[in-house]
Amino acid sequence: MKEKFVVTPWEVRGAIDYGQLVKDFGVGTISEEQRKHIANAAGFEHFMLRRGIFFAQRDLGMWLKAASEGKPVALYTGRGPSGHTHLGHLMPWVFTKYLQDAFDCPLYFQMTDDEKFLFKEDLTQKQVAEYTQENVLDIIAVGFKQGKTRIFSDTQYAKTIYPLALEVAKRVTYSTAKATFGFNDSSNIGEIFFTSMQSVPCMLPTIDAREKGLIGPKEFVPVLIPHAIDQDPHFRVTRDVIDKIGYPKPASIQSKFLPSLKGGDKMSASDPDSSIYTTDSQEAAEKKINRAFTGGRATVEEQRRLGGNAEVDSICNYLTYFFEEDDKKLETRIDAYGKGEILDGENKKYLAEKVTAFLKEHQRKREAARKVVDKFVVSD
Ligand code: TRP
Repeated sequence: MKEKFVVTPWEVRGAIDYGQLVKDFGVGTISEEQRKHIANAAGFEHFMLRRGIFFAQRDLGMWLKAASEGKPVALYTGRGPSGHTHLGHLMPWVFTKYLQDAFDCPLYFQMTDDEKFLFKEDLTQKQVAEYTQENVLDIIAVGFKQGKTRIFSDTQYAKTIYPLALEVAKRVTYSTAKATFGFNDSSNIGEIFFTSMQSVPCMLPTIDAREKGLIGPKEFVPVLIPHAIDQDPHFRVTRDVIDKIGYPKPASIQSKFLPSLKGGDKMSASDPDSSIYTTDSQEAAEKKINRAFTGGRATVEEQRRLGGNAEVDSICNYLTYFFEEDDKKLETRIDAYGKGEILDGENKKYLAEKVTAFLKEHQRKREAARKVVDKFVVSD
């Protein structure tokens, strides 16, 4: 029997069956029409859409409709600052930037410093605050629009967030939290409250637009949340209560996880070799790639004869999910790998060149970001 996989906001493990997740979570898939709509607005179709890396959604059609009618819309995403940023975190942010460019709309970016302190036994508030600052540099480096992007952490923007979180908390029972997140008698009480904080940015765009007089006092700004599918349980809770507080249910567009360099479906924070961090040196990144899990055979002779297994090959996966935007090139390479025409060494070299070029550029932007942090980050 296959090992059962687990996908929750706090734990992702096992061989993930994304089709099963769609059923279990009750999300929709992304239709051809929705893909085209986004591609039209952007001027091109992002490979993450085309390849089904973003593969699920809730109420996406409603959000797209509002956008196409010229109504104000907003994006919301976030980051739990429990460590440095790796490529798996960057993936949904890159896609969020694509959406922000396509729809030219505000983005609310939440840093859940409270969450990571509460859920990670060994992290102090000071460490989380340091990671928050570090992660913010990566977020800015992705290229979000200055003046249209607001980054805030829960503890430093608490005057704004906390009263709204209370509205949510009052309407969510312990029984719902337990059923949704699997809390038990040894869960700390902060954990149980936390999901109400993650709901709040769904309301902020409406509140801001009303304050600015962009919409009437009874009108709303629809919010779309790009996120990895493990966050869906939070937004199920949000969707259950938010209309009772007088705000619309958020829409979402959900991604798969960047597979691990060690094989398997997701990088693990406890194994730094399973992913590449934006703070890794060129040499460190090359080393990780050279040690990566591949679909190669025991000997060169066998691999030439039988071909490699591209499906489990983490190099081919990295190219598919992040580094080879050109479909034709990707297909040719995966095909050649499967036929034994390309061996692991060559494949790794090809990826390493792409990764190191990316890191160099990202790290340059990351340094430049230090000068404009104030233009993005708000506190109260
Ligand atoms: N809980 C998320 C994490 O642990 C952070 C987060 C907050 C988030 N709000 C979000 C992620 C909205 C995606 C979308 O990483």
